[in-house]
Amino acid sequence: MWKLTLVSLLLIYGIAKYFGSTGQPELPVLPSDQYWGPGQAREVDKSIRPFKIDIPKQVIDDLKTRLSRTRSLTKPLEGAAWTYGVNTGYLQTVLEYWREKYNWTERQALLNKYPQFKTNIQGLDIHFYHVKPTVPKDRPVRVLPLLLLHGWPGSVVEFQKAIPLLSTPRPDQDFVFELVVPSLPGYGFSDSAVRPGLGSAQVAVLMTNLMNRLGFEKFYTQGGDWGSLITTNIGILRPTNVLGAHLNLCSSRTVSSTFWSILGSYIPSLIVSDEHWSKMYPLSYHWSRLVEEMGYLHIQSTKPDTVGVALSDSPAGLAAYILEKFSTWTNPEYRFSEDGKLLEKFTIDELLDNLMLYWVTNSITTSMRLYSESFNSAQQSLKLDSANLRVPTGCAIFPHEISYQPESLLRLRYSDLVQVNHMPRGGHFAIFEEPQLLADDVWSFVGLVEKKKKTKQTATSTEL
Ligand SMILES: *[C@@H]1O[C@H](CO)[C@@H](O)[C@H](O)[C@H]1NC(C)=O
Repeated sequence: MWKLTLVSLLLIYGIAKYFGSTGQPELPVLPSDQYWGPGQAREVDKSIRPFKIDIPKQVIDDLKTRLSRTRSLTKPLEGAAWTYGVNTGYLQTVLEYWREKYNWTERQALLNKYPQFKTNIQGLDIHFYHVKPTVPKDRPVRVLPLLLLHGWPGSVVEFQKAIPLLSTPRPDQDFVFELVVPSLPGYGFSDSAVRPGLGSAQVAVLMTNLMNRLGFEKFYTQGGDWGSLITTNIGILRPTNVLGAHLNLCSSRTVSSTFWSILGSYIPSLIVSDEHWSKMYPLSYHWSRLVEEMGYLHIQSTKPDTVGVALSDSPAGLAAYILEKFSTWTNPEYRFSEDGKLLEKFTIDELLDNLMLYWVTNSITTSMRLYSESFNSAQQSLKLDSANLRVPTGCAIFPHEISYQPESLLRLRYSDLVQVNHMPRGGHFAIFEEPQLLADDVWSFVGLVEKKKKTKQTATSTEL
């Protein structure tokens, strides 16, 4: 019997070794100057123009009129809470607040607190915050550029609380961050492409160009959701530009990770500790949960323009569609509460600010197209999903994130994983929900990378 076991183990080991090889596929070469704007490709205006959010009164009046004309919402099923999607009983109270109490004049002033700009990259006007740190005269610190990228259905609103936490020097660190926080193309105040093809790989090129335009040849990156995918792509496609990538959604979706995940359902100890076992097993439970939550992804990856018509015409529809995500993705248990515990981690004003960035710019349709452009055969043929990220990487794993993978699998994808932390609380919208935890993790990650660099430099100079 032990012989059979031994042979099986060897066989498994061999297959695993084969699938676990971390060879880099041949990387695609993406042009830096692909033109996404209207008309023929042409030289763009490279100026960097100051920008302030200033929405005409008619847009706000129109919004309030639409809210006042919302048809009566279909009553939720008894006891269904948010398990059939948004709970319309609770949504009603949100819509009333939006119409009667939400003060855009005040909120807009808050969103204009940090300096914003627009500049044209590859034919598209890109909107971004550019926040320089205040460096104390008596204690000079190094200023490191950090690109912060949001995802869907988020926006630059998510970063408002983290901005001061990252741009104010800390007594225990000899560096501080200079922040660039853009709206992704097709999101908020950034232009959207006029022709197909601007997927997450091409967005990575565009964002690198933005940083270069601002004079940053080398920079740190941070992101969750699409922000994590795009920063990963930047590190793969433009590795010499990246000092380090901090992600709050790390994922290794290679053939070998899938193989190990399945093997791990028989012998979990191969890949995951007892403590974290229930975050990924039983597979049947977690996969069916994913199917339950990923309907939106299928729609947006295939027919974004159809659902976009409804969402861009009805603020109630937009609120339903987006707020459902802010409930369930913050904590899956929240869907069993009547109020979706929407205000457990966010204020109603913060949630509405984020909605406003989609509403006033009418960008929900173009935001959803990022899925169609990224989950198609043209994009998949670039094989970036199976490419290794070789720049220094930090993974912050939040307990209520939509999916979980143990460090052992993440290491198959991220070859220079400098830091992996299991966070004490928080979900998908980490920087919005837990700005302090996320910011602390970024400080600690960059501290490690900088220290490693210094050690290397010292070693080299001693050799000389
Ligand atoms: C909204 O806020 C502004 C600025 O604080 C204030 O002047 C205005 O009266 C407020 N509007 C309403 C309807 O409360």
